[in-house]
Amino acid sequence: MRLALLGCGTVGAEVVRLLHEQSADLAARIGAPLEIAGIAVRRIGRDRGELPVDPALFTTDALGLIKRDDVDVVVEVVGGIEPARSWLVEALRAGKSVVTANKALLAEDGGALHDAAVEGGGDLYYEASVAGAIPLLRPLRESLHGDRITQVTGIVNGTTNFILSAMHATGAGFAEALEEATALGYAEADPTADVEGFDAAAKAAILASLAFHTRVGAADVHREGITEVTAADVASAKAMGCTIKLLCIAARSTDAQGQESVNVRVHPALIPLTHPLASVGDAFNAVFVEADAAGQLMFYGRGAGGAPTASAVLGDVVAVSRNRLAGVRSASESSYAALPVRPMGEALTRYHISLDVADRPGVLEAVAGVFARHEVSLATVRQGPAGGGNGDAVLVIVTHVAPDAALAATVDELRGLEIVRSVTSVLRVEGGF
Ligand code: HSE
Repeated sequence: MRLALLGCGTVGAEVVRLLHEQSADLAARIGAPLEIAGIAVRRIGRDRGELPVDPALFTTDALGLIKRDDVDVVVEVVGGIEPARSWLVEALRAGKSVVTANKALLAEDGGALHDAAVEGGGDLYYEASVAGAIPLLRPLRESLHGDRITQVTGIVNGTTNFILSAMHATGAGFAEALEEATALGYAEADPTADVEGFDAAAKAAILASLAFHTRVGAADVHREGITEVTAADVASAKAMGCTIKLLCIAARSTDAQGQESVNVRVHPALIPLTHPLASVGDAFNAVFVEADAAGQLMFYGRGAGGAPTASAVLGDVVAVSRNRLAGVRSASESSYAALPVRPMGEALTRYHISLDVADRPGVLEAVAGVFARHEVSLATVRQGPAGGGNGDAVLVIVTHVAPDAALAATVDELRGLEIVRSVTSVLRVEGGF
């Protein structure tokens, strides 16, 4: 098996190292030796440390490498939409098998890759694109294909999980926790993709597509990041026996007419400390899957980093290589269900709302009236004195489940009430609190 490697950064270098260190075992598992045919990079002269590979294998001509007849498998660890999409479509149409870690591309235009794979007859595997080392896509794509998945709830971004875990542990604010994450190398110099939820949204689209046999793209995912989460939010969560996590949620629902649909979203949410996802700390990832027959399943591990991501890449390389030797390909993309994607406003969620209000007769009634007008039912209401000593009070309200649009409209109307001094925190609540 001859392999073209596109990209030789943190993950690519680990792929090279592991291919070298485990070459005998990998050959035995595949039934043929694995050899690197070439490594496409942007700059050949870059310092890549002591890589156990012939320097003559490096090239800047990725397309030329992909087109070579002696290349069977193309491994892409470059990331981004272009030129990766053109390279992979070219490789797949030419009948090569492709292993990629490129979540952004899969979420943006996975259909083009799947179609090209069918056209060329090769395999398209992408285990490393979601939750790094955690075997997750193969279970969704194969092991659970006899079942009906109802919901996938995950922590799929390590950077934000590190930040939120630090805020919970120390009481730090977002900026301070981000600074720590950057100093320790968890957050990138430009943390936008992580802290604004773009990375998690791409992963949510991939998970939803596999779980619900439906093409879901990044544009279908409602996305909110963690930059607005405050130390006060975290303290309030703690006071309720909860913590705050950036969750990706892909849920199936059926309306009164029996029409099934899916809703896919990424946002910070309160979850009870007793929920299995609450104990996922530091930069770890975990994904909680609920299925009709299997019940609840949890997948946990390292979601990023060179070696963990390379582990997932190499698992895919072994699988696609075996298929090629056997002259077969794995099942094509399964998108037969083509379920409609329900907008966020129609998703059923619960809110936790903190208000500073005037402390006088009739205030609670007026506040409760706003919820009632929007047909939102209250689960708990807690009142305490406000900190400022100005005669105001703090109201902390948790709702029952309601359409997200009704909850958002409730908050908007509350903001306009004269008796509401400020809405200090609005967070969704998940996980059976
Ligand atoms: N930046 C991602 C994270 C890892 O923080 O989890 C790559 O998807």
